[in-house]
Amino acid sequence: MTSQDVRKQFLDFFALKGHLIVPSAPIVLKDDPTLMFNNSGMAQFKEYFLGNATPKSNRIADTQKCLRVSGKHNDLEDVGFDTYHHTMFEMLGNWSFGDYFKKEAINWAWELLTEVYKIPKENLYVSVFEGNPEENVPFDQEAWDIWKGLIDEDRIILGNKKDNFWEMGDQGPCGPCSEIHVDLRPEAEKSQVSGKSLVNNDHPQVVEIWNNVFMEFNRKADGSLEKLPAQHVDTGMGFERLCMALQGKTSNYDTDVFTPLIEKVEQITGLKYTTNDVILNDSEESEEQNKTNIAIRVVVDHVRAVAFAIADGQLPSNTGAGYVIRRILRRAIRYGFTFLNTKEPFINQLVAVLANQMGEFFPEIKSQQQLVTNVIREEEASFLRTLDQGLQLLENVVAETKGSTVSGTKAFELYDTFGFPIDLTALILREKGFELDEAGFNAAMQAQKARSRAASEVSTEDWSVLIPGNIETFVGYDQSERDVKITRIRKIDSKKDGVLYQIVLDNTPFYPEGGGQVGDKGTLVSANETIEIIDTKKENNLILHFAKKLPENVNASFTAKVNQDLRSLSSRNHSATHLMHQALRSILGTHVEQKGSLVNPNYLRFDFSHFAKMTETELQQVEDFVNARIQEQLPLIERRNIPIQQALEEGAMALFGEKYGDNVRAIKFGESMELCGGIHVKNTAEIWYFKIVSEGAVAAGIRRIEAITSDAVKAHFASYENILNDVKTALKNPQDILKAVHSMQEENTKLAKQIEALVKDKVKNLKAGLTAEIQEINGIQFLAKQVDLNPEGAKDLAYELGNLGKNVFLVLATADEEKPMLTCYISKELVADKNLNAGQVVRELGKFIQGGGGGQPFFATAGGKNIAGIQNALEKAVEFVK
Ligand code: ALA
Repeated sequence: MTSQDVRKQFLDFFALKGHLIVPSAPIVLKDDPTLMFNNSGMAQFKEYFLGNATPKSNRIADTQKCLRVSGKHNDLEDVGFDTYHHTMFEMLGNWSFGDYFKKEAINWAWELLTEVYKIPKENLYVSVFEGNPEENVPFDQEAWDIWKGLIDEDRIILGNKKDNFWEMGDQGPCGPCSEIHVDLRPEAEKSQVSGKSLVNNDHPQVVEIWNNVFMEFNRKADGSLEKLPAQHVDTGMGFERLCMALQGKTSNYDTDVFTPLIEKVEQITGLKYTTNDVILNDSEESEEQNKTNIAIRVVVDHVRAVAFAIADGQLPSNTGAGYVIRRILRRAIRYGFTFLNTKEPFINQLVAVLANQMGEFFPEIKSQQQLVTNVIREEEASFLRTLDQGLQLLENVVAETKGSTVSGTKAFELYDTFGFPIDLTALILREKGFELDEAGFNAAMQAQKARSRAASEVSTEDWSVLIPGNIETFVGYDQSERDVKITRIRKIDSKKDGVLYQIVLDNTPFYPEGGGQVGDKGTLVSANETIEIIDTKKENNLILHFAKKLPENVNASFTAKVNQDLRSLSSRNHSATHLMHQALRSILGTHVEQKGSLVNPNYLRFDFSHFAKMTETELQQVEDFVNARIQEQLPLIERRNIPIQQALEEGAMALFGEKYGDNVRAIKFGESMELCGGIHVKNTAEIWYFKIVSEGAVAAGIRRIEAITSDAVKAHFASYENILNDVKTALKNPQDILKAVHSMQEENTKLAKQIEALVKDKVKNLKAGLTAEIQEINGIQFLAKQVDLNPEGAKDLAYELGNLGKNVFLVLATADEEKPMLTCYISKELVADKNLNAGQVVRELGKFIQGGGGGQPFFATAGGKNIAGIQNALEKAVEFVK
């Protein structure tokens, strides 16, 4: 059974059981501050469990792209070393939102595994939560009884809180769970050691494949459990592990999920990967092979995580989620560099294989194949340069090391400033017969972590709910003022912003930051007081209004008033962004896709895929295009709640990495149509004018434009006009400024020529006089003298005097425009025979004039600050020839 079939059968099975099949959510989460990446199938449904939103069906199933590389669920460091953990994996899941519970979930799981997939029952074990008195959660008798009807009692295992109580993070929905484990060992081994004893014991062939969570609780910030309003089911099956079981393999990497990628790595590197059934012995050769295998597993695993994250809109960067992605990719590059001997970018070549393999089910990887490849290639190239540099720096560190232990602080510097991996440092040091002071390294690392933790620490209190059961609605498309009640409040405290309050309303006109557009600001006004709202953000389905203080009476009635001036400026920039997107696609081509966007009252910033720097003409065309649409005074055509399919058929642009519902909002101005939740102008005429202020690169194949509209354009032109007026005044108000500047330039050129001629004459005169002053010391024609010339003149004079013989040593000092300068000339023969060096001379003598410089062994100059030091410098010069 191919992996494609495995996936399809799962979804078909649950569709038949009345489940709505939904697409995977993007791997990168946008509206959840507690989670960077989707780490399980349920993450996108969190709000349904908590009762903050209503699902479109109470039975849902899907396969979810998951990434477990940060936070509570982090497998990164294991990946490569074992055969069944991954950074990115697919999680097959079925959910009940207050609908069916344990009986159906367990029976269907069993039916699917044993009757559809036909896994022999005697290979399966299940676990049930034993209970936890401290948490006041009892033994799961119900699950035990259901399993007893399906499986021998001695195949049911009791599990503790660690294994059988599932939590998505430190806070949030959770509950007891029942896991299903499969024993894939050969019969001979099974008869010797029972599979039961190996469950949950890190045995690579006795692994958990499916977890059925019975969501009943919410873990609060204070650590306590609170009953959820309803009971739910959340299941997750490891797709790659299931494929392993169904394809008769003993390693996920031996399934068709990974073999095409592995073959490509073999082809590129000329190395061989050994499948898990090949037994490696203790020989040195086997040890080498084992290292190769680990590195290949790291590479083929990590490329999936990185490629899908980029396709979902997360570029590698130096902060947040982007930094996690960069680190994953660097781990792969570094394993390749050390163990696969890849010194050139190669991981990017795997993207084509991945697109071919998974593109049908996950179209985002196919349609963005080129971009993903480019970004990875660029990252590889730049990190390989870093590795090269780091290797050199490490050489220096080793050279400076006294004894055989290399300082941990130095190694940390390499790691911290250059991203040079510590295990690579340790490995290279071992090869050179040195040791790394690991304790010193760890201490430096801990100190830095403590610093950044302290800087980013946010403590979040639990919600205090004033009006329970309310689902907040957004009314901001139609209203900017609204009578409201506060439904819940929470206090947060961070180093960065201090104490803030998050306020949730029963309904709100405030637009929460999203789709690039910043959140609204405004006020909450009651009969007695006014509270400033300084920002609005979304957290899953809640709209949070941020305030520095709470109203005295939180139960009062308020009017929520959006600051319309700011909103209106943002909306002009947002609508201009859409028009510019359309312009870019029509002028540069339809390969242009939005890759990032920021819209605030001051300006707009737009990142998009395009392979070359835009020309002046192209930029002008884009500006003209947008301004033409503004002049056409196109009215906003807003379509709310239309089926997504219909919107797409009508030509609406959708973005990768955005999560859309079945019904969407489409924003149309003339031919421009995008799926968008933002705030827009009613007519393009409100934008007044559009002006690009910069264009540049952000990553390989990604460009960034910054532009302004309306009031900002007026300010921009006004400031240009001011500058021009100042120039005019400085030029004494000529009729034609440009003509005046040109004639000034011509005049200048003429004068420069005259000066050049005069200096030449002066050099000639000086040469005649100075030739007589040259002294012979130790067979060297020596002169040290201050001359009244500019630097060019001094150089000419030095060369002229130098031409007088083959053993000339000159130091000329000048003080043109009050700037002291030394010029040293030494005949090439002297440089060769007497080991004299003009660079060294000016460096030494430069100290007297408080300056420095350099040049070549026969000619060098040094500029300085102290004119009074010239005399000393000239007196000292003679010592070089003595
Ligand atoms: N949410 C559960 C898990 O991730 C199913 O294991």
